[in-house]
Amino acid sequence: MNGKSVLLIVTGGVAAFKAIELVRLLRKSQCSVTCVLTGAAGRFVTPLSLQAVSENKVYTDLFSLSDESEMGHIQLSRSADLLVVAPATANFLAKMANGIADDLASTVVLATDKPVLVAPAMNVRMWLHAATQANVARLQQRGIAVIGPNEGAMACNEVGPGRLAEPHEIFAAIQSALTAPGPLVGKHVLVTSGPTHEPIDPVRYIANRSSGRQGHAIAGALAALGARVTLVSGPVNMPPPAGVDLHKVETAAEMLAACQSALPADAAVFAAAVADWRVANAADLKLKKTPDGAPPALALVPNPDILATISAMGPERPRLVVGFAAETHDLRVHAQDKLRRKGCDWIVANDVSPSTGIMGGLENEVHLVTAAGIEDWPRLSKDEVAARLAHRIAEALI
Ligand code: C5P
Repeated sequence: MNGKSVLLIVTGGVAAFKAIELVRLLRKSQCSVTCVLTGAAGRFVTPLSLQAVSENKVYTDLFSLSDESEMGHIQLSRSADLLVVAPATANFLAKMANGIADDLASTVVLATDKPVLVAPAMNVRMWLHAATQANVARLQQRGIAVIGPNEGAMACNEVGPGRLAEPHEIFAAIQSALTAPGPLVGKHVLVTSGPTHEPIDPVRYIANRSSGRQGHAIAGALAALGARVTLVSGPVNMPPPAGVDLHKVETAAEMLAACQSALPADAAVFAAAVADWRVANAADLKLKKTPDGAPPALALVPNPDILATISAMGPERPRLVVGFAAETHDLRVHAQDKLRRKGCDWIVANDVSPSTGIMGGLENEVHLVTAAGIEDWPRLSKDEVAARLAHRIAEALI
């Protein structure tokens, strides 16, 4: 990101300290950073530390004569290629949604003519509140990109969505927002990701260990190349990549319906670990233990095969359909067989034996199986696998 510049607005939340790591990552990639702090942010992270890592003056006050004479707030709002609000509190999002400008940070956001990315962080109830959700939806409608929040434990001891996306995730979103329009501009790509949950009763379900990391990375890499991406994801603990259209589903049947309604698409990548079976008659009420302790007998029925269904479509079939094959043995044979059986164009095959650490891990070692043969890719991070695959898809669609 050599030569690019980011105006980073830090608002007041416990996560504000993570802004330091974000600035460090941006500086490492030669991106220049200017920070603006709200009054509350200054209680969580000092202007001095941000000044040290950004190697730039930090702005805090709308009515500072010295700041205004150096750089007026309107000029500040247009001085960067991208505005990033991280962390963005519920209060700040509400101000943005309503056009309120009552301090330097909110004035700068209102006055800018540059793209804006926000990374919300707040208590889970505040995030889930209808007011916050409506504010975020309004911002998205205006073209503001949203990254996160993540799910997990929070400083307030509650668990759920509300954690600031990790600095490396925000960094990746910044990177894709700042890169020039890519080769996939004008193309629509459908991506599935994550596991599916197949209910046994209202509280229990059948699932698998998929983290959604690879599928989400692919969606992000395709968006970074300019594609319009529809990401249909099962339940995962990670935020959608910036700039993708996310459809959350639970079951395989819901995933198939979401995929069908996302068509037409130029390409489709089926990275989800869809459950092969579901319980035939999921109970409406929680199953109780019987006095004799006998476990219930679960009758399973096969789920629809989404990849095979979409591959077999007529004129609505995407031009390029890519499936995944997660195997624990005889990888190459199974992958070539899968290519034929599913009717797709490519299979990305990987060995998910526990010893590889691939399932849920950060790295992947894949083999790209096409009609032309098998390509062995080296062990790479899942982000690198995603970037390579996205480039290959772009080449195939041109
Ligand atoms: O048959 P298997 O599950 O190994 O196939 C894996 C590939 O098929 C993946 O691309 C996966 O997303 C897709 N699949 C699907 N629907 C299913 C099962 C698998 O789309 N019900």
